[in-house]
Amino acid sequence: MGKPSASPLFFTLLLIFCTSGIRCQTDPWDEVPTILSRIQANIPTFPDVTFNILDYGALPSANADDVEAPANVVEANSNAFRNAIGLANIFGGGTVLVPNGTFITGPITLRSNVNLHLSTPSTIIRFTRNTTAYPLVFTRWEGIELINYSPFVYAFEQENLGLTGSGILDGNCDCDNWWPWKGTWSRQCWVTTPENQTNARNALFQMAEDETPVEERVFGEGHFLRPQFIQPYRSKNILIEGITITNSPMWIVHPVLCDNIVIRNLNITSLGPNSDGVDPESCKDVWIHNVTFMNGDDDIAIKSGRNQDGRRVNVSSENIVIQDCRMANGHGGLTLGSCISGGVKNVFAERIFLSSESLDTAIRIKNNALRGGLLERFFLRDITVGRVAKQVIEVDFFYEEGPDAGYVPVIKDFVIQNLTLQDGAPYTCYMKGYPGHPSTSFVGLKLENATFNGIENDPHYVAENVDDIITLNVVVNGVLWEYQQE
Ligand SMILES: *[C@@H]1O[C@H](CO)[C@@H](O)[C@H](O)[C@H]1NC(C)=O
Ligand SMILES: *[C@@H]1O[C@H](CO)[C@@H](O)[C@H](O)[C@H]1NC(C)=O
Ligand SMILES: *[C@@H]1O[C@H](CO)[C@@H](O)[C@H](O)[C@H]1NC(C)=O
Ligand SMILES: *[C@@H]1O[C@H](CO)[C@@H](O)[C@H](O)[C@H]1NC(C)=O
Ligand SMILES: *[C@@H]1O[C@H](CO)[C@@H](O)[C@H](O)[C@H]1NC(C)=O
Ligand SMILES: *[C@@H]1O[C@H](CO)[C@@H](O)[C@H](O)[C@H]1NC(C)=O
Ligand SMILES: *[C@@H]1O[C@H](CO)[C@@H](O)[C@H](O)[C@H]1NC(C)=O
Ligand SMILES: *[C@@H]1O[C@H](CO)[C@@H](O)[C@H](O)[C@H]1NC(C)=O
Repeated sequence: MGKPSASPLFFTLLLIFCTSGIRCQTDPWDEVPTILSRIQANIPTFPDVTFNILDYGALPSANADDVEAPANVVEANSNAFRNAIGLANIFGGGTVLVPNGTFITGPITLRSNVNLHLSTPSTIIRFTRNTTAYPLVFTRWEGIELINYSPFVYAFEQENLGLTGSGILDGNCDCDNWWPWKGTWSRQCWVTTPENQTNARNALFQMAEDETPVEERVFGEGHFLRPQFIQPYRSKNILIEGITITNSPMWIVHPVLCDNIVIRNLNITSLGPNSDGVDPESCKDVWIHNVTFMNGDDDIAIKSGRNQDGRRVNVSSENIVIQDCRMANGHGGLTLGSCISGGVKNVFAERIFLSSESLDTAIRIKNNALRGGLLERFFLRDITVGRVAKQVIEVDFFYEEGPDAGYVPVIKDFVIQNLTLQDGAPYTCYMKGYPGHPSTSFVGLKLENATFNGIENDPHYVAENVDDIITLNVVVNGVLWEYQQE
């Protein structure tokens, strides 16, 4: 320290940090340049060879807003993507160019060293609503491995993948197509139909608990489990850049068991059920930069598998850097969970703007005692929140199945610095740990330099069975908040 002017208060505070499990010596943010340089060194580049899908028989639609094409056109486009990507891969890599126009197709499978490029802002790839066009593949659904419909854009055990350009990927889902399979859902459409996922979802969860081999967990036609939009699986060195993604069946950008992923300059707009924006699941070294989110569910939700199946796969998510994003709508903005049984560590988020009457929570952790998982080292700074519908910060260990199981979730080293709430919210924080478990389960939220304006409730927070909350220079409606444990 060396500064003769350091006050006794300073040392008291330092002591509090050191005993609360938060590292005192080094600033965790110093790790970010190392993570980013590792990711940047592995951003894929592609040989300067172009494969235009028109040369492989692709047929554009007459009108940009055509929602469906005759089966022979869908087949021609599916084949054009398959053949152009296949040839590019065989010849050592290159760019598969999608020109101006609207191409209605079945699912697309990416291959190593190929960059699928949507070359103009009016380039649209729209996915057919004909569900039989989607073959069955090895995938992960709500944190559980299974065989189900191919995600709309899929890759399995590939490396050096690009999905770039300025065009639009349109999932073509609406209240009559794919979304009704959710069953009951109220945000955008109310759908009650016997063709819903309930039975299949329960069956899948039971198979996971019974440890049924993944090859025998076969779903698809007749089961109504919606595929994800973009899902690289067990792949590495991935660049997803520039495009707009809209009307997704459920989770939107969902890399699973992947390393080294850059997701940047995207516009992700989808208000359907389970429309999470970016869900890295059991992934390492992920950089999410300059993305605009407008989602029906969480904007970013970091995951690592669900319950018994998450523990079987047992791969955590680590080293995730989120910068310069804008988030509107959705349940949570920056979210960890709930499928987080494999754990998560080292998540950094900075310069994020979140605001919407339809965004419940800006910073959200959701878990329960069936999921479990160690959630550690979640650092946020320079966060600006406009308006949220419920609370700015939420740690909810009572999500879905709740507390009555043996896998007590743990959150530790959770630090938020320099946060401003501009336009108001009902609560600052909603935090609930388990009775009897506070000090093992909920360890160390530090909130430093935060200003909350327009909080509507008094008391302005809910905190039950939580330990070691530190508030430093936190002002709520103009009054300094010094957290006292009850
Ligand atoms: C794309 O094609 C449409 C219709 O042919 C045309 O109006 C538009 O200007 C084109 N856009 C670009 C970026 O080339
Ligand atoms: C749906 O796709 C299947 C196979 O891809 C095809 O045989 C069938 O004709 C298509 N149905 C319609 C209505 O286009
Ligand atoms: C979901 O499907 C089941 C039967 O498969 C049916 O009993 C139930 O009413 C459906 N739910 C909704 C909300 O439509
Ligand atoms: C952010 O992404 C948008 C496209 O969504 C792009 O126009 C803009 O240039 C990007 N900004 C930076 C700093 O990369
Ligand atoms: C994002 O895409 C949606 C849907 O295409 C569009 O309405 C919106 O204006 C876009 N937002 C930005 C920031 O480009
Ligand atoms: C999961 O992996 C971690 C670290 O890789 C290991 O310590 C732990 O024992 C594993 N758990 C199970 C249930 O295999
Ligand atoms: C706090 O965050 C805001 C918003 O990102 C930023 O403009 C400001 O410079 C930050 N303040 C400090 C002291 O870092
Ligand atoms: C918190 O604010 C104080 C006073 O403005 C500043 O000295 C300190 O660096 C800030 N801390 C962080 C972590 O931004």
